[in-house]
Amino acid sequence: MAITYEHIKTCKQTGARLGKVHTPHGTFDTPAFMPVGTLATVKTMSPEELESMGAGMILSNTYHLWLRPGSDIVEEAGGLHKFMNWKGSILTDSGGFQVFSLSDLRKIKEEGVHFRNHISGEKLFLSPEKAMHIQNQLGADIMMAFDECPPYPAEHKYMKDSVERTSRWAERCLSAHQRPHDQGLFGIVQGGEYEDLRKQSARDLTSLDFPGYAIGGLSVGEPKDVMNRVLESTTPLLPTEKPRYLMGVGSPDSLVDGAIRGIDMFDCVLPTRIARNGTCMTSNGRLVVRNAKFARDFGPIDENCDCYTCRNYSKAYIRHLVKANETFGFRLTTYHNLYFLLKLMRQVREAIKEDRLGDFREEFFEQYGFNKP
Ligand code: GUN
Ligand code: ZN
Repeated sequence: MAITYEHIKTCKQTGARLGKVHTPHGTFDTPAFMPVGTLATVKTMSPEELESMGAGMILSNTYHLWLRPGSDIVEEAGGLHKFMNWKGSILTDSGGFQVFSLSDLRKIKEEGVHFRNHISGEKLFLSPEKAMHIQNQLGADIMMAFDECPPYPAEHKYMKDSVERTSRWAERCLSAHQRPHDQGLFGIVQGGEYEDLRKQSARDLTSLDFPGYAIGGLSVGEPKDVMNRVLESTTPLLPTEKPRYLMGVGSPDSLVDGAIRGIDMFDCVLPTRIARNGTCMTSNGRLVVRNAKFARDFGPIDENCDCYTCRNYSKAYIRHLVKANETFGFRLTTYHNLYFLLKLMRQVREAIKEDRLGDFREEFFEQYGFNKP
């Protein structure tokens, strides 16, 4: 099997899992955060920088790489790892979610989705078979089943039809997958806020025996307590001996709360996206470095951070670069934000090891400001 999960221990205080995911490109510790490199690059970061901050697995996108440069070119280059010179593990999302969030004029049919290219307007079609073929060409360690991620809120009737179609698509993905020996295919549990549909989706997908499972359709506008409730009822339905991945979630509070509910892997554009408009995650909450009050602040972004950015550069300098649109400024904020989340996950793993993740959550939320009204 391409992907295996090694369970190390369960936190006695919270039930969070400490483990390792083994892939053809190495092993990473879980719970883990995966930086997003949509177009075969984590925007502004080199692979060496990602490695230096402790990233084990990064994420890339079928939809974007299919449109440019084209999955044939990536295949000809020897696959995504070689093409982008990343030695660690890679996961590719299937394109389902991106079609739904980026393209216009979609038509969902049983055979797949018809839509228009969000750049050129050209007519395109993506199906389970096509998404598998493209992901086989890209050659990531983990690939995702082609699913539908309905918006929030959606009617129960719509969601039920969608969940059933996603299950049929998952079966087609398994049949079309050409490289199960070196690429692990994960199924995606959908069902929105509806407990019965989450249950149905989890039952359908676990019967297909994927090497790992994702929970999709969250962080699409629902309140935090809805996400936590869905996680609480869904993760117990997934096999304990396989990794669980919560898609598209990466705010610091959700990472801790997801880990407490048994999630092993997370990804999100949040840290890299907000970095490029000058917003930093710090141990005391978000900091907008563009703010005039930092013009003469020669201290680091975060006193408690030991990243490259915080060891060497001041808020005043970074503010100047970001305001002047200098690339180096965005590199510094991106490095810091990714380091912050990767370090948070190291702290979460340490706390699980010592059965004190509940205490850690309290302290972290207090300092970050999540407990404030
Ligand atoms: N990224 C965030 N949410 C989702 C989802 O539900 N499905 C897929 N394929 N990708 C996602
Ligand atoms: Zn820092």
